[in-house]
Amino acid sequence: MWSKERVAEFNRKETPFYFYDLAVLKKTLEIVKQESSKYGFHVHYALKANTNTEILNIICNSGFGADCVSGNEIKAALETGFSADNIAFAGVGKTDKEILLGLEYDIFSFNCESIQEIKVINDLGKKINKIANIALRINPDVNADTHKYITTGLEENKFGINKWELPTVIELIKQCSHINLVGLHFHIGSQITSLTPFKNLCTRVNSFREWFETQNMDIKHVNVGGGLGIDYADPDGNTIPDFENYFKLFNDFIELQPHQQLHFELGRAIVGQCGSLISRVLYVKEGVKTNFVILDAGMTELIRPALYQSSHKIENITKGDVVTNKYDVVGPICESSDCFGKAIDLPHTERGDLIAIRSAGAYGEVMASQYNLRDRVKSFCK
Ligand code: LLP
Repeated sequence: MWSKERVAEFNRKETPFYFYDLAVLKKTLEIVKQESSKYGFHVHYALKANTNTEILNIICNSGFGADCVSGNEIKAALETGFSADNIAFAGVGKTDKEILLGLEYDIFSFNCESIQEIKVINDLGKKINKIANIALRINPDVNADTHKYITTGLEENKFGINKWELPTVIELIKQCSHINLVGLHFHIGSQITSLTPFKNLCTRVNSFREWFETQNMDIKHVNVGGGLGIDYADPDGNTIPDFENYFKLFNDFIELQPHQQLHFELGRAIVGQCGSLISRVLYVKEGVKTNFVILDAGMTELIRPALYQSSHKIENITKGDVVTNKYDVVGPICESSDCFGKAIDLPHTERGDLIAIRSAGAYGEVMASQYNLRDRVKSFCK
């Protein structure tokens, strides 16, 4: 993974920075395309995972649609060249300004998450004489078996319209002159590493779809969201997620009418493994149990370990992979949660060594902050 030339190139750069390996991204996209097109599935890239311009260009040129959660993501998608009729817009709190933007461009669908939102979209559509294509984001009450902060499909979560609200929603839609119901939308969570929750989702989707048929509501699109996880422990052994079995499972278990299309919104599985956060060791400090490796990157650059107790593979790319010592690898921020890993196996590590924190292509750079008035993290692609 880390050639001498690459490490030498990193050494000439100011740290910390994100490095995106475009060969990994392209290979991943090729497999997504190959596996999804076997069944005629439509994949939208969830921009929230990474909005690096080069990455967006490559994904757009590979022919995927976009899944956005803010007006600015819609703008970024349009600027990249994603066509508006391939842009889905989700989120529990869409502002009027964001809705108007989506209406102006006639986006593929507003994934609506509440009764109130449908009313607001209809009113705004009326005002500017535009019909909104909407999909109902239904809360399927399926356990994704992942971290609670990234679980979205349980009744206790704020997302989606609950089952018991559907009769009211249908009555409402019938009265809305500027709403065109085109689909049903589901998303149960993120970093899902077993296919079982997706199988359970299929069962729920089938019964919702049937129910809508009994109500004589024509549904053109079913969108099952994203959530496929990646292997954080072994990014080199498992660089590309198992898209083959993921798409096959949906093909085996989802029951659709011939005219209905199946859509996906994948983020992490597409961009997660192509990114690494590269940082430099500032100090090695003696601790009580293990010594501390103090990096020039912290939770400001990659907040996932602090927020979700997630672990990313950590490597000393200056010294190689013969591990001899255990270290707590921490950042410089004034918070004890600013820790990338405890008792991590590394070679003997010294000031100036380069450290790679792997699998950071999704929800890394996009979630960076300038807390402590730090510089905004830079990135480069190759
Ligand atoms: N669709 C919807 C409606 C979503 O809310 C999400 C992610 C996705 C698609 C894409 O999910 P993915 O395929 O990437 O799992 N910051 C967290 C992850 C938050 C995910 C939010 N929603 C993390 O770092 O783990």
